[in-house]
Amino acid sequence: MEKFKLKKLDLADALIFSMHANNRNIWRNLTDRFPHPYTEENARDFIKLTLEAEPTQIFGIYVDTEPIGAIGLHPLEDVFSKNIELGYWIAEPYWGKGIMSSAIAQMIAYGFEKFDINRIFARPFGRNIGSIRTLEKNGFVLEATLKNTIFKDGKYEHELIYAIRKSS
Ligand SMILES: CC(C)(COP(=O)(O)OP(=O)(O)OC[C@H]1O[C@@H](n2cnc3c(N)ncnc32)[C@H](O)[C@@H]1OP(=O)(O)O)[C@@H](O)C(=O)NCCC(=O)NCCS
Repeated sequence: MEKFKLKKLDLADALIFSMHANNRNIWRNLTDRFPHPYTEENARDFIKLTLEAEPTQIFGIYVDTEPIGAIGLHPLEDVFSKNIELGYWIAEPYWGKGIMSSAIAQMIAYGFEKFDINRIFARPFGRNIGSIRTLEKNGFVLEATLKNTIFKDGKYEHELIYAIRKSS
């Protein structure tokens, strides 16, 4: 497995981060909040946002000194406050090297340690076999399949809800 580290993103890395993020094959698996095309300015805005939260919610995925993706936990509010949503992407040349499976394992440990939550969930699109596999390898369980709730890139997609819990 390729060596990588999760660490806080650095504004100085915005250009290279945006070059990796500027990819339709990544964008087509994420919500439309993820811009396409993805500019250096988009990266700067995103990185600034990640630096505001304490404890850190979103980390860069670094190989050597290069940011090649991001993984984050997004806390829910109100009566849903015991839940946190996991989101992630990695640059296409690094797919299939086991990086995300291992990054998710680290984020599960981090999430349950740093946040007062009982459940971490993710919502891959039904056709996103790679994402589903990384979740299942980490003990996430399919809790629901919502048919055609997503409209992305002019097409309906199924929404899968995968979760892992501290206690049932
Ligand atoms: C989905 C994604 C995060 C997977 O990351 P990754 O680092 O390539 O995943 P891993 O290398 O850890 O692979 C985990 C498993 O999934 C499999 N896999 C990965 N991509 C796959 C694909 N496109 N089709 C089938 N299997 C795939 C791997 O073979 C591996 O299985 P194995 O351990 O049984 O061999 C990455 O492809 C990506 O960033 N995609 C675009 C954005 C995205 O989909 N984000 C998630 C939104 S929910």
